[in-house]
Amino acid sequence: MVRRSTPRGADIAVIGAAGKTGAAVVSALGSAAPVRRVVHTARRTGDLAVDLETGAGLDEALTGCRAAYFIAPNLHPDEPGLFERFLGAAVDAGVEHVVYHSVAWPYTPAMPHHMDKARCEDALHIRDGVRWTVLQPCAYAENFAAVLDGDSDLLEVPYDSDAPFSFVALADVAAAAARVLLDGADAHHGATYELGGPQAVSVRQLCNATGRAVAVIRVPAAEWMERHGRALTPDARARLAAMFEFYDRHGFVAGSASLAALLERAPTSVVDRLR
Ligand SMILES: NC(=O)c1ccc[n+]([C@@H]2O[C@H](COP(=O)([O-])OP(=O)(O)OC[C@H]3O[C@@H](n4cnc5c(N)ncnc54)[C@H](OP(=O)(O)O)[C@@H]3O)[C@@H](O)[C@H]2O)c1
Repeated sequence: MVRRSTPRGADIAVIGAAGKTGAAVVSALGSAAPVRRVVHTARRTGDLAVDLETGAGLDEALTGCRAAYFIAPNLHPDEPGLFERFLGAAVDAGVEHVVYHSVAWPYTPAMPHHMDKARCEDALHIRDGVRWTVLQPCAYAENFAAVLDGDSDLLEVPYDSDAPFSFVALADVAAAAARVLLDGADAHHGATYELGGPQAVSVRQLCNATGRAVAVIRVPAAEWMERHGRALTPDARARLAAMFEFYDRHGFVAGSASLAALLERAPTSVVDRLR
């Protein structure tokens, strides 16, 4: 947990607080600042429900906040539209500092959901009336939680399992986000931080590091979708398929120097931790 002082009553809104990323960011902020959990479906006392597709609830969620951390729903068909709506509401509410959860390599025309994040970054750069920071995480190691936590000894991957990835620990990403939010706009306005893990490893190496006999099996993307992506819309499936194709050819590596600087320590080596 990161502990820094923030001005009194200066709330921090975490948009997407109930999701995988949002929960980690809320947890990293801990009690270091008053945090508003901004969610889609309120489940816990104090949750503030918003609908990013209509803007409902955004004014109430953001008014009185010093900073807001925006995490878009995964693979949404119109992330730039959601982000513009949020950004307008944040400026109207007088939010000083908007921190946008982007992705490493946002400008990648072969991956439409990355390109949508590039568009959001552009909208933020040129928006008057707010100071901003962008975080660009690489792929989280936790995407393979079932295998890493020992709940499964089978991993089906729809791309080359020897392709290199700078898998990053989600807790490190969240700690970096907390640092940026708690330091504030004076320290981080105009900065874009790429957040990769400390080494490039393949999915196979990640599985081997568990020390268990994990079967890593390549399956066609269509077969993977049938088994693991049934709940996804056709648009989300298409975005995911483009990502798998890209991963197959290029992997996904990113630098870790910004993450080390924000954490003031070496980023977690997921492979070393597993070993
Ligand atoms: N996974 C990775 O390796 C990785 C790496 C870099 C960047 N990212 C990015 O991180 C972001 C979050 O990913 P995640 O896996 O943490 O997502 P997630 O667990 O699916 O969480 C997204 C949250 O969005 C909320 N939501 C959905 N529709 C909404 C709406 N209309 N209005 C308001 N909120 C809505 C949901 O809230 P409720 O639960 O309340 O319904 C959900 O909790 C994505 O944009 C992804 O591209 C992921």
